[in-house]
Amino acid sequence: MTATLKQATGPQFTRILSFGAARGENAVPNDDLIGPIDSSDEWIRQRTGIITRARAAKDTDAIDLAAIAAAEAIEKSGVAASDVDLVIVATISNPKQSPSVSAIVADRVGANPAAAYDVNAACAGYAYAIAQADALIRAGAARYALVIGTEKLSDVVDPADRSISFLLGDGAGAALIGPSETPGIAPAVWGSDGSKADAVGMNGTLTQFRDGEVPWPTLRQEGQTVFRWAVWEMAKVAREALDVAGVEPADIAAFIPHQANMRIIDEFAKQLKLPETTVIARDIETTGNTSAASIPLASHRLMAEHPELSGGLALQIGFGAGLVFAAQVVVLP
Ligand SMILES: CC(C)(COP(=O)(O)OP(=O)(O)OC[C@H]1O[C@@H](n2cnc3c(N)ncnc32)[C@H](O)[C@@H]1OP(=O)(O)O)[C@@H](O)C(=O)NCCC(=O)NCCS
Repeated sequence: MTATLKQATGPQFTRILSFGAARGENAVPNDDLIGPIDSSDEWIRQRTGIITRARAAKDTDAIDLAAIAAAEAIEKSGVAASDVDLVIVATISNPKQSPSVSAIVADRVGANPAAAYDVNAACAGYAYAIAQADALIRAGAARYALVIGTEKLSDVVDPADRSISFLLGDGAGAALIGPSETPGIAPAVWGSDGSKADAVGMNGTLTQFRDGEVPWPTLRQEGQTVFRWAVWEMAKVAREALDVAGVEPADIAAFIPHQANMRIIDEFAKQLKLPETTVIARDIETTGNTSAASIPLASHRLMAEHPELSGGLALQIGFGAGLVFAAQVVVLP
């Protein structure tokens, strides 16, 4: 007779215990970018809501930003770094394809030998990673998980690309997830549509670059395609996330969508019929679009500016290159 395998089980619920953040050191105003794209400060403000974006210094990379954000999240949580046994990093700007950002960050913040891996789900990466951390802890595969979104997108922009160059910023946001007595992370509504893979992403491969066939690959997008998809399809996903969490728009204390464009954020708020009392994250104004880092950075800022949100419900939704999306309701720490 074969032996019966032991199975792990974890706590029934999890929650976010704390946030950490790191933004690129330099605030880059619109006027610094408009020359090569024949644009204006006024156009960028009106069409995107961005006034300045955070960009990192030449020698700062996505790993450095992630380690700073992670250290803050650990410190604020009160959990010992050595008790963190899972590190998930969402990023599309690892300076190298291998090794992962997560293993290096785990070591830098004192969480070595935590399980560590990176997730590539672009601007939905943080929400994907939150879903994974919640599921893995409840399954007994880990107890304390560090979820980090980190990007240095300024290394993969073409200053002359008027479809995207002015949108992107650099930064990292981190959340520490642990066991909870009550539900703190509702089920995710997540998915993908690879038939629209060409709508946003890199415009070349590394081998094409090596062979001199393309210049340094950078991010590009079909702005209107992504805009329409975001406004129509993502509002539905956000509504579904409320349904699976069993809550109403009126229950939502904070709305923290991916910081892609202020007009998309406003349109979501309108379609979701969020009450006046819901605080809406508008970190894009001074940070820009930082892809996987945008939701945790916006969350961190919201908590600093509105400490009364602590314990309230937040609806978060990420969407981007893939195309991919993920939304869930969480209890704010
Ligand atoms: C990129 C984006 C800001 C462009 O805004 P838009 O309102 O769609 O702009 P359009 O492409 O319709 O262009 C409108 C006009 O502005 C012009 N324009 C486009 N880009 C411009 C720029 N950077 N500066 C100045 N003018 C610009 C166009 O030429 C066009 O001019 P016309 O009316 O004379 O023909 C917007 O589409 C967007 O935010 N898309 C989604 C971004 C997103 O969510 N990305 C997710 C990936 S993370």
